[in-house]
Amino acid sequence: MWCLLALGQRNSTNDRGTLSRYNGLVRTAVLPADEAAIERAARIIRAGGLVAFPTETVYGLGADALNESAVRKIFIAKERPFDDPLIVHIAHIQQLALLARHISQRVWDLTERFWPGPLTLVLPKTDRVPSTTTGGLDTVAVRMPSHLLARKLIERSGCPIAAPSANRFGRPSPTTAQHVLEDLDGRIDLVLDGGPTPIGVESTVLDLTQDPPMILRPGGVTLEALQEILGEVRLLSSSASEAAKRSPGTRWRHYAPQAQLLLVESAKLEQIVRELLEDGKRVGVMVRQSHLPCSPPSSVLSVIHMPLDLSEYARRLFAALRELDAHRVDVIVVETVEERGLGRAIMDRLRKAAQDEKSHQ
Ligand code: TXA
Ligand code: MG
Repeated sequence: MWCLLALGQRNSTNDRGTLSRYNGLVRTAVLPADEAAIERAARIIRAGGLVAFPTETVYGLGADALNESAVRKIFIAKERPFDDPLIVHIAHIQQLALLARHISQRVWDLTERFWPGPLTLVLPKTDRVPSTTTGGLDTVAVRMPSHLLARKLIERSGCPIAAPSANRFGRPSPTTAQHVLEDLDGRIDLVLDGGPTPIGVESTVLDLTQDPPMILRPGGVTLEALQEILGEVRLLSSSASEAAKRSPGTRWRHYAPQAQLLLVESAKLEQIVRELLEDGKRVGVMVRQSHLPCSPPSSVLSVIHMPLDLSEYARRLFAALRELDAHRVDVIVVETVEERGLGRAIMDRLRKAAQDEKSHQ
């Protein structure tokens, strides 16, 4: 797929990666992730290019984490603020010492239990990690994915890979190669298609530079599982100022469909949907257990029945938001889920998607 792309340099008056100036043609190839494709992807990474690839959580947009100019391209392609740090992905535990300092026994206990897997550890960074990769912070976020394709790609590339989710900034995270193309076609070199991602929500981000450790973002590894190893674990408060200080990425509206999103308790769902329909709105609903005001669904009402099982719900979540956007609804009404286990990660994403301002800093 070819398309004209206006690639910009960092805009000095604004810290967001902007697509302001034309910089050339980018052809985005999409390949089933076989051996030849992984080899080609690794060559692109080594040459400083951008490759989207599947992990067990969501698709990531990867570049050589130690190559500053390659990493800058990630921010530009995603239109992501330059002060929002990236996660660095490794394939072998030996790579951790290249990136992080002060690796305590607690770190080894966590990596032994949860790596490879959806746990990201925030640690003091070494000088080898460019500050562009860490958004100017002196800490680095590291994870070892369990997806075999991801690990093979890192191994063949011969470098740690910096990779945020492969969506345009603020949009729902991609769980298929098609989602990546919807957001980034013409902006990146290659998408490795490894099918839908099995977990569907991003990794848990755990800050180990404070005591007790703090979960900056709930994700694939649950609070309960971390407590088994660490004892006390704090959860980042949703208060805007604390969140912004600890984790720059939390300042912005995230995971957001184009439609307005309303997060509603089961008991109120039916009435709210009815009122929206009476107001002439096109309504999308992600329902789990409630009854709906009109059935069968009409042209103004699109209904997605979400699974009761929280793992299946997480797998379906971002695709469902994109699907309702494709129906061009005005409002998406989502029934709340219980905040335990993976339900914490799901509610975190839904709350952020429901914020109506881009920033609350
Ligand atoms: O599952 C995942 O974590 C996926 C896959 C691709 O690995 N990646 C991902 O990356 O979700 P991203 O960039 O979309 O989200 C990373 C989050 C952001 O909120 C960022 O602010 C935070 O992690 N983060 C990264 N480095 C950090 C650091 N040094 N200190 C605090 N927060 C950090
Ligand atoms: Mg993201």
